[in-house]
Amino acid sequence: MSTPRPMGVPARPNPDEDADVDYATLRPGGRHHRPIPEPSPLTRHGPARVLALCNQKGGVGKTTSTINLGAALTEYGRRVLLVDFDPQGALSVGLGIPAHQLDRTIYNVVMERAARADEVIIKTSVDGMELLPSNIDLSAAEVQLVTEVGREHTLGRALRPVLNYYDYILIDCQPSLGLLTINALTAADKVIMPLECEFFALRGIALLTDTITKVTDRLNPRLEILGILGTMYDPRTLHSREVLERVVQAFGDRVFHTVIRRTVKFPETTVAGEPITTYATTSPGATAYRTLAREVLARCHDE
Ligand SMILES: Nc1ncnc2c1ncn2[C@@H]1O[C@H](COP(=O)(O)OP(=O)(O)OP(=O)(O)O)[C@@H](O)[C@H]1O
Ligand SMILES: [Mg+2]
Repeated sequence: MSTPRPMGVPARPNPDEDADVDYATLRPGGRHHRPIPEPSPLTRHGPARVLALCNQKGGVGKTTSTINLGAALTEYGRRVLLVDFDPQGALSVGLGIPAHQLDRTIYNVVMERAARADEVIIKTSVDGMELLPSNIDLSAAEVQLVTEVGREHTLGRALRPVLNYYDYILIDCQPSLGLLTINALTAADKVIMPLECEFFALRGIALLTDTITKVTDRLNPRLEILGILGTMYDPRTLHSREVLERVVQAFGDRVFHTVIRRTVKFPETTVAGEPITTYATTSPGATAYRTLAREVLARCHDE
């Protein structure tokens, strides 16, 4: 174990230390490559595992990871539902769906007893991946839900009728720890925390893990952290490498071995309205989300 260094101080290789380390196999974050099993095809579908992609910090890659992990899971034969649970509707827009023109969205499913999720769910351009869209209407739900009985369970209740149809339901959370996010955590089995590999990345994590603990104690005892996902990693900068090393030091095996690198391909996919797995099939970004999908399947014991 090396002693912790202040941020920004370069890691100097110590010739006495790590003499046996094969640096060729070292992965971002200083860990060794670990083979991830190839998942087996499914013989039947459902019930879905519900994963919330959550971080109250904005712009860390929640929506990008929801779209691309979802698309990658379909390549392994899994049926996927993406739930846009952010009034910004970026997930819907990122899949080329003009959410502001939709009459019915997740807002109706959450707020109206008569509206069923399967009536609002729409197909995406990816075979096997469907979407529960959202738009700005959802912002009203946060206010209206406050006076409801069982207000934290509203999303979970709305998803229950479709659980058996899918293998994975991925919920894209908004960047806050308000009532919508609490609903997502109450509906979820596991949380994936995308974390941008930059200086302030670790700041909000204590607050987020504290919130997850409270939800586990009070609302949803089955909730667990599936993993922390390093995003926007730039191996050319010492800073990015240092941050990831810190995250691995702090959270150990909770950090996914897969790390998503920074590339302009991701903003391009948003404009194209499709996942990177179809937009740039053989790009390193597409490969990274496929590897993440395999890691997620392995961590969910779905091999
Ligand atoms: N690995 C990456 N490399 C480069 N750009 C990326 C990467 N991942 C995401 N982006 C871009 O960064 C921006 C923010 O990403 P994204 O919308 O996925 O984050 P978010 O956490 O969902 O944001 P918000 O908190 O606002 O919902 C987007 O423009 C996206 O295209
Ligand atoms: Mg988002």
